[in-house]
Amino acid sequence: MSRAARVTPLGRGTLARQLVLRTTALVAVIAVFLSALTALAMHQILENQLDQRLASYATRDFGDADNDGRIRPGPGGPGQTEGLLVFAVHGSQVVGYVQEDQSRAALPDAALTQLTALETGRTPRSVTVDGVGGYRIVVLASGDSRVAIGLPTAELTASMVSIVAAAALLTALAILIAFLAARQVVERSLVPLARLAGTAHQVSSMPLDSGDVALGVRVAAADTDARSEVGQVGLAFNHMLDNVEGALAARQRSETKVRQFVADASHELRNPLAAIRGYAELTRRHRDELPPDTAHALTRIDSESARMSTLVEDLLLLARLDSGPNVQRTTVDLTELVVNAVSDAQAAGPDHDWAVSVPDEPVTAVADPHRLHQVLVNLFANARTHTPPGTSVHTSLTVEGDDVVIRVADDGPGIPDAVRATLFERFTRADTARVRASGTSSTGLGLAIVAAVVSAHGGTVAVESGHVRGATFTVRLPRGA
Ligand SMILES: Nc1ncnc2c1ncn2[C@@H]1O[C@H](COP(=O)(O)OP(=O)(O)OP(=O)(O)O)[C@@H](O)[C@H]1O
Ligand SMILES: [Mg+2]
Repeated sequence: MSRAARVTPLGRGTLARQLVLRTTALVAVIAVFLSALTALAMHQILENQLDQRLASYATRDFGDADNDGRIRPGPGGPGQTEGLLVFAVHGSQVVGYVQEDQSRAALPDAALTQLTALETGRTPRSVTVDGVGGYRIVVLASGDSRVAIGLPTAELTASMVSIVAAAALLTALAILIAFLAARQVVERSLVPLARLAGTAHQVSSMPLDSGDVALGVRVAAADTDARSEVGQVGLAFNHMLDNVEGALAARQRSETKVRQFVADASHELRNPLAAIRGYAELTRRHRDELPPDTAHALTRIDSESARMSTLVEDLLLLARLDSGPNVQRTTVDLTELVVNAVSDAQAAGPDHDWAVSVPDEPVTAVADPHRLHQVLVNLFANARTHTPPGTSVHTSLTVEGDDVVIRVADDGPGIPDAVRATLFERFTRADTARVRASGTSSTGLGLAIVAAVVSAHGGTVAVESGHVRGATFTVRLPRGA
């Protein structure tokens, strides 16, 4: 069973990461939007203030041009205003100055041309005067005179740079705080979910496929508060576990009943079967007096009842092993057991090539000799009936640490794909031409019995099989089993 990978906090693909990133992104969008809006509003306010100052100049008297073409400031003239631009056109004469540090300066030619071209209007507009700088300008007209008055925007621009820098800094800070806070909150909120996952893992690693199963694990009461989403999941999870536990108990009860029924039925069938075989045997003694058809029918009755007896014995054995490790343990000389079983197999299957290898020292184990003999008989019967004549079957007995290992390897055609996945389950058998041709009956219980006996001894059985390489069954038993 594969355990789910451990979730690293804020790891790629986690819910926590998504929540934190999305929350941070949302805060970032809002913060940037608000900062931009604030900067725009500040720009508007500063510009309005500049425009108001400009409007107050526009209502003043800037005097007139001197004969020499210079503007003579009136009483409310520009006098003290730093950066004020005054530019006048009288008839065909163009005069103008830029007052910086209260000193007059002549405007460059390009600026003069630019200002001359400005349309008259009291609404301030932003103009970048060539060679002088950015200004908010109004152009007033009276008769053939035009006066352009401007205030520099350099200060406004400098203020805006500071405002935007401060806003950017605050936005970055807000995003950082949002990220840290969201991470803290999300991680805390998801802790109960991690506990739920822990409980689920615990249950998923329990062996639930057989036997009397008590789950015994539930989500803690703290995580089953129906008012929270996680609590709802915890509650549903506990209901599910109750349900599963109930279902497993019901399955176990019905399995026990079926097992008991099979055991009882097999047991009850033994006696009538023995009687049928006895009567068939009795009648066979007078075979010469019987018509050939009846004699043949009797032979069939005898062989089929023998087959049924084997089947009933197998079912009874499986039912007994199912109800618990039902084995009579004693010290068994495995070397002798294996060698005798191979020699029996050789007698039963002379067309096959049988070989055995055992250690020089006798190998013993605490086990049930009759059941182990049956394991070998079943494996040898398979090697004989499911492979063609001439197949070599090599049996080896080895000691590996605290285990004894019996390997039965043949070089036959291997286990058919159709039965490989369920090989050790009951009634798994392949209806191959070879089995039909051999005329032997096959019930598919042989390997199920092998698996049940080996597991009752605390051991394991495994198979390795290729398509052409044959099949190797490995039975591993603890020596002190
Ligand atoms: N050595 C083998 N080589 C090829 N196929 C095998 C071998 N051993 C088992 N099998 C396949 O596995 C199936 C299941 O074997 P299993 O011993 O459980 O049942 P069975 O031999 O068909 O019947 P039973 O043993 O009850 O008379 C067989 O039908 C056969 O197809
Ligand atoms: Mg078999």
